[in-house]
Amino acid sequence: SSYPPPPPRDFKSITPPYPHLLRQLEQVRKVLNRPLSLAEKIVYSHLVNVEEGLAGGDPIRGEKHLKLRPDRVALQDASAQMAILQFSTCGREATAVPVSIHCDHLISAYEGAEADLKRSVMSNKEVFDFLESAAKKYGIEFWGPGSGIIHQIVLENYSAPGLLMLGCDSHTPNAGGLGAIAIGVGGADAVDAMTATPWELKAPKLIGVELKGELSGWCSAKDVILEVVGRLSVRGGTGSIIEYYGEGVERMGATGLATIANMGAEMGATTSTFPYSDNMRRYLHATNRGPVADEADKAQAAGFLSPDKGCEYDQHVSIDLSTLEPKLNGPFTPDLSTSLSKFGGLVKEKGWKDELSAALIGSCTNSSYEDMARAASIARQAKAKGLSVKSSFMVTPGSELINATIERDGLKADLEAVGGQVLANACGPCIGQWEREEKKGEENAILTSFNRNFKARNDGNRLTMNFLASPDIVTAMAFSGKLSFDPRHDELLDSEGKPFKFDPPTGDKLPQSGFTAGNTTYLPRPTPEPVPSTPLAISPTSTRLELLAPFEPHFPPEAFADSSKKLEFDDLRCLLRIRGKCTTDEISAAGKWLKYKGHLSNLAENTFIGATNDQTGRVNSAIDFESGEEGTIPEVAKKYKARGQPWMIVTDHNYGEGSAREHASLQPRFLNCKVILARSFARIHRTNLTKQGVLPLTFANDADYSLIDAGDVVSTRGLDDLLRGNLNADVDVVVKKADGSEKVIKTVHGLSKDQVEWIREGSALNLIKRKAAE
Ligand code: F3S
Repeated sequence: SSYPPPPPRDFKSITPPYPHLLRQLEQVRKVLNRPLSLAEKIVYSHLVNVEEGLAGGDPIRGEKHLKLRPDRVALQDASAQMAILQFSTCGREATAVPVSIHCDHLISAYEGAEADLKRSVMSNKEVFDFLESAAKKYGIEFWGPGSGIIHQIVLENYSAPGLLMLGCDSHTPNAGGLGAIAIGVGGADAVDAMTATPWELKAPKLIGVELKGELSGWCSAKDVILEVVGRLSVRGGTGSIIEYYGEGVERMGATGLATIANMGAEMGATTSTFPYSDNMRRYLHATNRGPVADEADKAQAAGFLSPDKGCEYDQHVSIDLSTLEPKLNGPFTPDLSTSLSKFGGLVKEKGWKDELSAALIGSCTNSSYEDMARAASIARQAKAKGLSVKSSFMVTPGSELINATIERDGLKADLEAVGGQVLANACGPCIGQWEREEKKGEENAILTSFNRNFKARNDGNRLTMNFLASPDIVTAMAFSGKLSFDPRHDELLDSEGKPFKFDPPTGDKLPQSGFTAGNTTYLPRPTPEPVPSTPLAISPTSTRLELLAPFEPHFPPEAFADSSKKLEFDDLRCLLRIRGKCTTDEISAAGKWLKYKGHLSNLAENTFIGATNDQTGRVNSAIDFESGEEGTIPEVAKKYKARGQPWMIVTDHNYGEGSAREHASLQPRFLNCKVILARSFARIHRTNLTKQGVLPLTFANDADYSLIDAGDVVSTRGLDDLLRGNLNADVDVVVKKADGSEKVIKTVHGLSKDQVEWIREGSALNLIKRKAAE
């Protein structure tokens, strides 16, 4: 109560442009003339030009590349650094759409909320200061450390039915809980939206999931998504939007739906969404967004926010919530799903120690009021019987709104009374920011209500088995301390040694006395005016942040007006031929390198350190063609750069698979790589390379891979024709061997018109900058 009242909201900036979207929808209906799914309505109504985008009609899904205009962007502190640095090279004074920055990933868990926050703010001060200065300069809403986790704050403040949002984080789809289409992207894609550059997306396919019946007892929204991930697998959603419908959707709260949408990312789905419901309307009102709900009601009345009868999905799944069982998914992969009734048997069969070492609830996936209220109802039952938790029990509230409300309503006290430790409103243990002292290097099992459970994800220990479950199951199990405990049937002994069994958890979807904002100093100024004179806070001696210089164009601008000048890459040196798997992790390693995400020169020291040289057979080995000396790959690449020697590499199949990590394309370009010639590329990485101005070519004949050796001199032929506008041009490479012989190798470029422009300009950002100046 000693905090100032929250600033008034600017509803305009948080309401999707419904009248415009409805006009666009009319056009979509004219072109396609068939029933539309909800996802199709939202995505296609955000086309820059509906007629052009859908020209020729079906088939659209999985076929056409759509140019879209997103409504909003959200960035978290780790990925925001490179997104903002890239944006700052584009010559814009303000962002073209509303953007928010959230400081959450860099806060580690150690001793509890207050001390952890203080320590993390100290150790990451320069990054937070930089982000705050950028927010001021460009008119971005800044949510500082302690305000909460990006996805929870977006749900509470920005998401809305029918919104199209991009976020630099893979769990951005969480915003789908309010019927938005929210997609996780890299920084360069976010910059497209921030500069009003059409953002390209291959039209996703659709997976329809019908939710029948109603959840009851120990089952919650988390169990629904654990079941879906188990059925569809970690790759099952690739290239698809998951659209849920049915009576089960109507009955669930918006935050429960957000839990389901959040973990669509675990199946590789583009995003997940739900039709507008009464519960969404209630959530909008409860979070002080009544005017947004009123506009959504009108858009719904015009048929925008639900699927048309008879619309078709590419794949279909049906789940009966009334017969669903609680699930535990893991270890080490989210799609290994076991029903609670079978879990005890699995523990025995696998010979795992029947001991739970830590129980963690909260995170962006599961820290709603309902989640906390249900967990607290279990804690109160245990407390009444004189019990406290047997394993450590940590609670991460998703936001200050949740934290303050559960404190006011006594739920925090309920959790603390049984031994729960409430952490800062931040990612903490979910992203490995957990300085866990016990069980180092030991096999042990933890239960979390988070979303990911890859090895070492939470505590850095590859032997920690992480099982994902609902907050209800995680909390109840913490009182038994055993993995084989089934709270539905098994009894515990109370403090007097008498048997006792939990009743199923209960909890309100929304707080009966409304939310309380708590510490309002965390709240940003709504739609702040940009202050262009603000300098970006980057110290010239910083090791973590560095201004990004735009990449030099490959060709001088006057060469494009003079057809006698040949636009070819001549005399590139082959730096190395990479053997086998080369994921974004091999190209740009994570771990200790993460702290350099905002400092390209320092991060570039890890370029290709995980790649295997096909000729020497060694990892991170390259030969300097001038001296003949062997060095690490970044060492040799840096030498080439220093000599002004452009280079290329030859790679194997599926080059760049793994994540959308854009540093994996920025770094080679920064070190003067012009061409990557691969047997095949991972799709997202190939786009990322092109965006940074690196030419991705594929061998026309797979076997030609071994015809180019490190040190060979490689030149393109036909690139000139392509860059001058002939998309059908053949691009080959001429390879000069050390003995003076020459070979011509056929390649395939597969570039779109836009991608050719990015190569012409030297990068997509250069193109944006030129257009901004025109
Ligand atoms: Fe943070 Fe974990 Fe979510 S890292 S954004 S709480 S997935």
